[in-house]
Amino acid sequence: MTSPFPQQFPTTRLRRLRQNGWIRSLTSENVLTPSDLIWSMVVHDGDEARIPVGSMPDLYRLNVSEAVKAARKASSLNIPAIAIFPHINPSRKDETGREALNPDGLIPDVIKAMKDAAPDVGIICDVALDPYTSHGHDGLIDSEGYVLNDETSEMLVQQAIVQAEAGADVVAPSDMMDGRIGAIRKALEAAGHTNTMILSYAAKYASGFYGPYRDAIGSATALKGDKKTYQQNPANSDEALREVAMDIAEGADMVMVKPGLPYLDIVRRVSETFAIPTIAFQVSGEYAQIKAASARGWIDGDRVMMETLLSFKRAGAAGIITYFAEYAGELLND
Ligand code: PBG
Repeated sequence: MTSPFPQQFPTTRLRRLRQNGWIRSLTSENVLTPSDLIWSMVVHDGDEARIPVGSMPDLYRLNVSEAVKAARKASSLNIPAIAIFPHINPSRKDETGREALNPDGLIPDVIKAMKDAAPDVGIICDVALDPYTSHGHDGLIDSEGYVLNDETSEMLVQQAIVQAEAGADVVAPSDMMDGRIGAIRKALEAAGHTNTMILSYAAKYASGFYGPYRDAIGSATALKGDKKTYQQNPANSDEALREVAMDIAEGADMVMVKPGLPYLDIVRRVSETFAIPTIAFQVSGEYAQIKAASARGWIDGDRVMMETLLSFKRAGAAGIITYFAEYAGELLND
């Protein structure tokens, strides 16, 4: 009987290296560990210990003492750093966001308390005015609602100095004003904070994926209009390289691409072109999508979470800011 199939067997069978766990593990090109994770944490200035965020299941706004506990936990999970984001009481918000410059405000308090409790964990602070402004924009606006570049930069410089003075290890401008990295670097040097690092949100897109975050920090209802005159157009890729080049020239130590998964192509281009530590931000909407589909039983949440986190490594990210850090850190430590 003649076989219906031609007798031509492949000499190369890539499936040989997939046949069982040990060989898959040995030939794995990338690996995810707790030290790749940056814990994205929302803190609030009220008394209540933990306040749930509706659009982000299992995420809570923490008060200062809960944040301290979380910092100790990060240390025990070998998570190297925490990125903190403030929810500010609306009574402390105004047009200019001047609460951002208060040396006794929420963020300086949290930094000091965390550094006290867990000095080995890096603290990364967002530099931008949106948690503090009544209109929800990242900077100062003119009578037409246009965000003013240079005036905003001057405020951001002061905000970064307040954070550095409180003990922040890394300041992370997320506002997308032109020239602010250089201005902040100069001011940090002049104030003696030569070792304070700058993680620039260099390629930050005007994205619909930030929705739940604005809910988490309480700027959602406040925000008038959108952020398209300062954040990048999602259609653009070359422009991200110009943004990154500019921030590196101005003194950024690390750069960020944000959002994460829809912009993996940008993570790859940036990390390959500049060979600078490139951080990806898995933003609130990415977290919410995975949580929502998983809650309905439509996807395996743990598996998809781990797969997305590993994808950032594959794309060339040095680290990942994520709301999953605590949970993923627990799984990875098991
Ligand atoms: C604002 C800022 C935003 C995020 C971090 N810093 C939102 C925005 O630009 O409107 C988003 C984080 C997230 O969605 O998880 N400066």
